[in-house]
Amino acid sequence: MYAIEVQNLSFSYKGNPVLKDVSFKVDKGDFVGVIGPNGSGKSTLVKLLLNILTPEKGQMKILGEDVNKFSEWSKVGYVSQKANSFNGDFPATVKEIVGINLLAHTGIFKRKPADYDERVYAALKNVGMQDYQNKLIGKLSGGQQQRVFIARVLISEPEIMFLDEPTVGIDAKSEEALHCLLARLNEQLGITVVMVTHDITAITAHANKLVCLGEEGLVVHDVGDAVTDEFLTKIYGHSVKIHNHDCLNCEHMERLKVLSK
Ligand SMILES: Nc1ncnc2c1ncn2[C@@H]1O[C@H](COP(=O)(O)OP(=O)(O)O)[C@@H](O)[C@H]1O
Ligand SMILES: [Mg+2]
Repeated sequence: MYAIEVQNLSFSYKGNPVLKDVSFKVDKGDFVGVIGPNGSGKSTLVKLLLNILTPEKGQMKILGEDVNKFSEWSKVGYVSQKANSFNGDFPATVKEIVGINLLAHTGIFKRKPADYDERVYAALKNVGMQDYQNKLIGKLSGGQQQRVFIARVLISEPEIMFLDEPTVGIDAKSEEALHCLLARLNEQLGITVVMVTHDITAITAHANKLVCLGEEGLVVHDVGDAVTDEFLTKIYGHSVKIHNHDCLNCEHMERLKVLSK
């Protein structure tokens, strides 16, 4: 069974075609980078897969089930671009933000399950934020807030995680750390990661598959094959240089070595 199967998918906004007859498959355990220029349809593709938008044509399956019949959405996590936009006074702690999905499961009384503290702690530990439980979310940096939002998704033990440009507005060092964190979650927890990103250098260091939207329509590329300047120029319509990505702070160098062989 595939994590994601897309067949002959087309979508338009009021007659403006965005995706035209695209097909691709994502294996369980893949780390997929979704790249392409602004306006190429990356966010639209994610929204279609999350059943937020309805396709014009084609079929999409998540974990073997048609997206429009799929019901186990707790197995599918989503971290959006705008998650890190809380102001300093937003009245919720890190612990409350991360635990909120546990409360939703216990009905209108919003009782905490017996293992609430334990599960919140474990999720935060997975993203290295366990020491920030009682801090207000708005007091954290953009990069730290995104880690908290990843922990909030992790608490439901997802099989697939979608992230739509989660590093927009955060500094380069936190951005690199976030890519490394996702590579570790992918490797250690086996979570299928689908990440829209503008950071081609980082994503080619961590992902094993690229879904590229652009001039050529949709092209799927194994990162094992060299991602050449020529290929990227085709996708973006202009030259895009990859610089060296040593990922010095990455806890997960083994995987990178395998990928760069
Ligand atoms: N809600 C909408 N209504 C109409 N057009 C939209 C809407 N959202 C996006 N678009 C258009 O669809 C195209 C793809 O958008 P999007 O999926 O957001 O691209 P990306 O995420 O790659 O930047 C763009 O041309 C954009 O202007
Ligand atoms: Mg977008």
